[in-house]
Amino acid sequence: MPNQTHDAGGWVDTHLHLLSGLDDGPANMDQSLAMAEAAIADGMVRAIATPHANYQYNFDPEKVRALRLALQQRLGDRLEVQTGCELHLSYENVQRALEQPKLYTLNQGRYLLVEFPEFFERHALSTALEQFLDAGLVPVIAHPERNPVFQQHPEALDDYLRLGCLSQVTASSFRGRFGKRAEQFSLELLNTERIHVVASDGHSAAQRPPFFAKAFAYIQAKASDEIALALCRDNPRAICDNRELPYLPSLPAAKRKGLWALLRG
Ligand SMILES: [Fe+2]
Repeated sequence: MPNQTHDAGGWVDTHLHLLSGLDDGPANMDQSLAMAEAAIADGMVRAIATPHANYQYNFDPEKVRALRLALQQRLGDRLEVQTGCELHLSYENVQRALEQPKLYTLNQGRYLLVEFPEFFERHALSTALEQFLDAGLVPVIAHPERNPVFQQHPEALDDYLRLGCLSQVTASSFRGRFGKRAEQFSLELLNTERIHVVASDGHSAAQRPPFFAKAFAYIQAKASDEIALALCRDNPRAICDNRELPYLPSLPAAKRKGLWALLRG
């Protein structure tokens, strides 16, 4: 039976480089406003601004709060803007986030957007993720479909998802914005129910726009109306509100315990 079509709109974005002068997102307020207008025109109603916290870009929570306030005043109630960050999983960042999690989490709740290094030893980051989970935080893995290690070893992602982490796929990956491999892997993740949330990871109005509508239509066609709404609207809204997710993907079953798992107890 064909999927019913749903009026596009109501998107909630949990990964967006919207605030200016902080990272490789917009350079000034005008560019921030242009991005926000593009997002509103596409149907976005709420967004968490997530500037990078990595070796290249220092994360300053006070500055982020001030920029959010200034932007919100310009936008009024047309787009609700909240704050968080995209936390690169460096040793220093992990320690800082464990000490003062609310400085880093999405809308100061329990969900923490984490970015994996481009290359990493498969088991090396488990400890950090387990520490976050033990502290009551829920790591949201940013764009696993674009990471070369996850592309080659999807079972590594499965291990983290079984721990309790969430996977967040970039909307434009479905349409090939990050290459054929990321496009294929994002579809594979969708088909095997390993996606909790879709986000734009928008950086600019034109080059990396904050769009959802095309991804929403794609997910409707490849999966269902219900899953498209869950990934683009209802799950991200729950993250903003610090609630449990209303939709949980099935995730692959755990394989027989390997030697590594047995050694770790
Ligand atoms: Fe990002």
